[in-house]
Amino acid sequence: MFIGIDLGTSGIKVLLVDEAQRVVASHTESLRVSNPHPGWSEQDPADWWTALLAACDRLAAEHPAAMAAVRGIGLSGQQHGAVLLDAGDAVLRPCILWNDVRSVAECAAFEAAFPDSRQVTGNLAMPGFTAPKLLWVKAHEPEIFARTRTVLLPKAWVRLMLTGEKIEDMSDASGTLWLDVGARRWSRAALDATGLDERAMPRLVEGTAPAGQLLPELVQRWGMASAPVVAGSAGDNAAGAVGLGAVKPGQSFVSLGTSGVVWATTDRFRPNAGDAVHAFCHTVPDTWHQMGVTLSAAASLAWWSRIAGRSEGDLIAEVPERIEAPGTALFAPYLSGERTPHNDGAVRGAFVHLAQDTDRAALTQAVLEGVAFSLRDALEGLRAAGSTVTEADVIGGGSKSRVWVEIIAATLGITLHRLAQGETGGAFGAARLARIAATGEAVESVCTPPERLESITPDPSLRAAYDQAYARYRTVYPAIRSL
Ligand code: XUL
Repeated sequence: MFIGIDLGTSGIKVLLVDEAQRVVASHTESLRVSNPHPGWSEQDPADWWTALLAACDRLAAEHPAAMAAVRGIGLSGQQHGAVLLDAGDAVLRPCILWNDVRSVAECAAFEAAFPDSRQVTGNLAMPGFTAPKLLWVKAHEPEIFARTRTVLLPKAWVRLMLTGEKIEDMSDASGTLWLDVGARRWSRAALDATGLDERAMPRLVEGTAPAGQLLPELVQRWGMASAPVVAGSAGDNAAGAVGLGAVKPGQSFVSLGTSGVVWATTDRFRPNAGDAVHAFCHTVPDTWHQMGVTLSAAASLAWWSRIAGRSEGDLIAEVPERIEAPGTALFAPYLSGERTPHNDGAVRGAFVHLAQDTDRAALTQAVLEGVAFSLRDALEGLRAAGSTVTEADVIGGGSKSRVWVEIIAATLGITLHRLAQGETGGAFGAARLARIAATGEAVESVCTPPERLESITPDPSLRAAYDQAYARYRTVYPAIRSL
């Protein structure tokens, strides 16, 4: 039996997965984000821990035999967040999250202090990443910076609580801007540019490697027969890739979660920082990946549902089941700024080209299409970095909507596979990593593909129209950026 934990932004999910890779039980505790100022996004790590204990306590109460048999634990985590610890490992301030855009000015300062940063880290300095967050703390909260002895990503802090050890995996470490991504080691120059040194960094491992053992008090609390191994684990996107079996170069997926992602597994470190594409280590050894990220994917629909006062399902039901043509109203999904391709933490979203007859359904369609266009931007960035993507699995909450997936297939011009009911997300990938770390089984034999529900090929009658609509969408960013 294996546990997969996904420390997401809106909730922490814990899965119990058996030796045949069947999900035996699952429990999710929700989490809240605090936005104390515009563009800020924070969570208190103590809330993650309370939620994780609640979820595991519940699984132990309801499935004692399964919990007793757990051999490995894997973690999947929201990436980039900065948890700052003092000399006694106490948390110094709330974690500044991946979608916090306060550190725009610090990105320029980081690149000025480390001119080779794009080549070494494979990424533009973006406010979502960890290093600029630390420069912001240094400038605005110098007393906290002075007391900072260790910086951990969210899931590494959870590991510290579970095992007492400070260890990070390569995929998540790639999102800090402190990793030499090609060489898979911390970059002294990158740390220097932030006023830190390697003593502030956790030990690095591959995601499939053993990385700590559950502390005895937790083994006892959850009634386990022996202390499970905790796997090196992964950032949530890499864990999602493992859950989908996307571990071999050439495999791709699209994620429609809070943020949206177009992913391609690669055999080498292949950066395209200019288009704000991420080039990261994969969580399996000797493998890398590229990823284009749009910050508000399902988050855009959730926002529109709050504004419209209707559930997301009700809104989508008002959109024609079979789209005849792209809408004329356009939506730019830059509610939290944008990463790929603009790397602009200051831009904000917009509805444009509205008319008297633009109704709620037309605006919902515009939201679905705006996210699809932002995913096309991400795909074009991957293509410019040398990846060929012709098909992809779709995961994340948004993939439940068939019409949304059809719009995305027509916009990207690739076949999209919707997956059968079942677990495919980060928590499931984390449970697979737990299994590999605990048993030493081969990555390929554990990371098999999921069952597909249907494959949606781009509707030929819509392709050209969506290409034109994408060209219109591309004119929106230059028009609104100066606002
Ligand atoms: C990836 C990213 C997001 C978060 C979401 O670079 O910032 O996908 O990992 O949890």
